[in-house]
Formats: sequence, structure tokens, C-alpha cells
Amino acid sequence: MTRLAFYSITGQTRRFINKVGFPAYEISDADPYHAMTEPYILVVPAYDDDMMDSVIDFLGYQNNAQKLQGVAGGGNRNFNQLYIHTAKDIASGLGVPVVFDFEFNGTDADVKKFRKVVAQIESKQH
Ligand SMILES: Cc1cc2nc3c(=O)[nH]c(=O)nc-3n(C[C@H](O)[C@H](O)[C@H](O)COP(=O)(O)O)c2cc1C
Repeated sequence: MTRLAFYSITGQTRRFINKVGFPAYEISDADPYHAMTEPYILVVPAYDDDMMDSVIDFLGYQNNAQKLQGVAGGGNRNFNQLYIHTAKDIASGLGVPVVFDFEFNGTDADVKKFRKVVAQIESKQH
């Protein structure tokens, strides 16, 4: 089963994940060294790179980078070309696709679409 891992600084991504309602691991600054045991999708907001140290530590831990199937990006379209740049950078760095994007905590339509994206990725594993 595809799992989710996410990171949130001001709580918008956490609210999105809670609305989606699928099992999800929250990457914590206190201890980002958590091993994912199943393939998973990473959901990350966009910030300056130096605010993403916990996510980078998480991805470097055990087989977390190899198990990553795709990245979903949260952001704010006012950032124009930098919209969801964190998700894009992680995805291209690890050779996986950006599977979804949303602003802030996502609309109801975003929640429905993302559930479908996750279900599709999961169905391809079987
Ligand atoms: C200091 C700061 C920098 C940000 N930089 C970007 C950015 O480069 N691109 C983008 O799409 N959103 C950017 N955002 C918007 C956040 O990614 C967006 O509000 C997101 O929903 C926050 O998620 P979180 O509450 O889970 O931390 C920035 C927000 C802040 C406060």
C-alpha cells in the first residue's frame, strides 16, 4: 500500500493531509530519522532550501530515497516561477515525478484529485 510522508511548517500541508485522510507520517524536526517501510509519496510545502533540512535528513535515512515514488508540492502561486520549487527540486534530484500540486491546504477538489492520484499510483504496483 502506498503511504504518505509529509512536512509542514505553518500547518497548511498538515491540514491538507488530514482532509485527504490517508495514513501519513509527519517528518519532525526533532527526529527526522524515520525509515519508511513501504513505497510512499512525499508531500512538501515550498520554502527556502535552508528550511528543508529535516526533509533532506529524512530522505537520506536508510532506504527512504529509494522507496520514494513521487512528490506532491504545496505552495502559493504568487511565487510565480518558484511555485512548488521544493517539490520540483526534490523530484528531479531523485528521479521521480511531481505527481500533484496544490495551494495552501488545498481545495475540496484538490483533496478529491489527490486521492485519485494516490490510488492510481497504488494500482500500478499490483
Ligand atoms: C518564507 C516563506 C517562503 C515561501 N516560499 C515559497 C516558494 O518559493 N514557492 C511557493 O510555491 N510557496 C512558497 N511559500 C508558501 C508556502 O509554501 C505555502 O504557504 C505552504 O502552504 C506552507 O505549508 P505549511 O503550512 O505546511 O508549512 C513560502 C512561504 C513562506 C512563509
